[in-house]
Amino acid sequence: MVYLKALTGSALFASLAASSVIGVRQGASSLNDALVAKGKKYVGTCADGNLLTDSANEAILKSDFGQLTPENSMKWDATEPTQGAFNFDGGDAVVEYASANEKLVRGHTLVWHSQLPAWVEAIGDKETLTQVIKDHVTAVMEHYKGKIYAWDVVNEIFAEEGGLRDSVFSRVLGEDFVRIAFETAREVDPDAKLYINDYNLDSADYAKTQGMVESVKKWLDAGVPIDGIGSQSHLSAEGFGNSEGVKGALEALASTGVSEVAITELDIAGAAPDAYVNAFNACLEVETCVGITIWGVSDKDSWRSDESPLLFDANYQPKEAYNALIAL
Ligand code: XIL
Repeated sequence: MVYLKALTGSALFASLAASSVIGVRQGASSLNDALVAKGKKYVGTCADGNLLTDSANEAILKSDFGQLTPENSMKWDATEPTQGAFNFDGGDAVVEYASANEKLVRGHTLVWHSQLPAWVEAIGDKETLTQVIKDHVTAVMEHYKGKIYAWDVVNEIFAEEGGLRDSVFSRVLGEDFVRIAFETAREVDPDAKLYINDYNLDSADYAKTQGMVESVKKWLDAGVPIDGIGSQSHLSAEGFGNSEGVKGALEALASTGVSEVAITELDIAGAAPDAYVNAFNACLEVETCVGITIWGVSDKDSWRSDESPLLFDANYQPKEAYNALIAL
């Protein structure tokens, strides 16, 4: 108190700015640089719209993260809400920010049962759905061709038991939609890494992880051009889905023969430092793990905000988990 009272006007302002933990932290360290120094390609986060321009959020994006995933703006309901009428405004903002600030972009996502327009959901015949998938993948990937490091070509296609999830895609086309989507994607942008992405792949012995492993091996044998497996890693503090199994799970996914794996949407209920360290070490210790994307910056903007799962609190202050990762 005495200290603050002694300062007035611009001296007070300067003092507050200099003592802002964010300012100090950003000057001192970068999560991305820390992981790149250990041989990985990136530590990323997700963002769209305001989060790209909000000054507190943007400052952290810029200094701590080397990769961006559009949180919602490249999903089917955003890019092709009506058949053949494409909207790339939201995705363009992410790609423009990324290119101006030298960040890699993960494209997310082309074929997913969720955030899917009703007109796709209503398709009942193979020929139409095949063409619709090809048209969608082609238009979106053409638009961003050469600007995307990796695409989540299909997302969340497995059920918890390890078979294919029920969706319009699996109902109408069986598993052939996977081949259709990947072959189209490879043709459109041969330089993009093509990923299959899913959640609850957090321990090697879980049925869904095993289902993913078996299916990817089979598809690779059949020549489906899959480059990578993404493990979303929306983790729990304890019990099912905790961080302890992540390394074993990544090893199992890597053993399929894909050229790379990645942690694509990391957030952890409670954000315990040890749990984040487990997840980061898992990627560090699996040679083909290329990078880690954390699903947001501040708890304020997290899709799981009631679980405080991110590295920065609602006031954009770094948490203990952040310090633990920088110290790895
Ligand atoms: C979430 C976004 O974070 C939310 O803003 C949106 O309302 C719903 O989707 N798996 C995924 C992500 O692949 O796209 C989801 O993102 C989280 C779960």
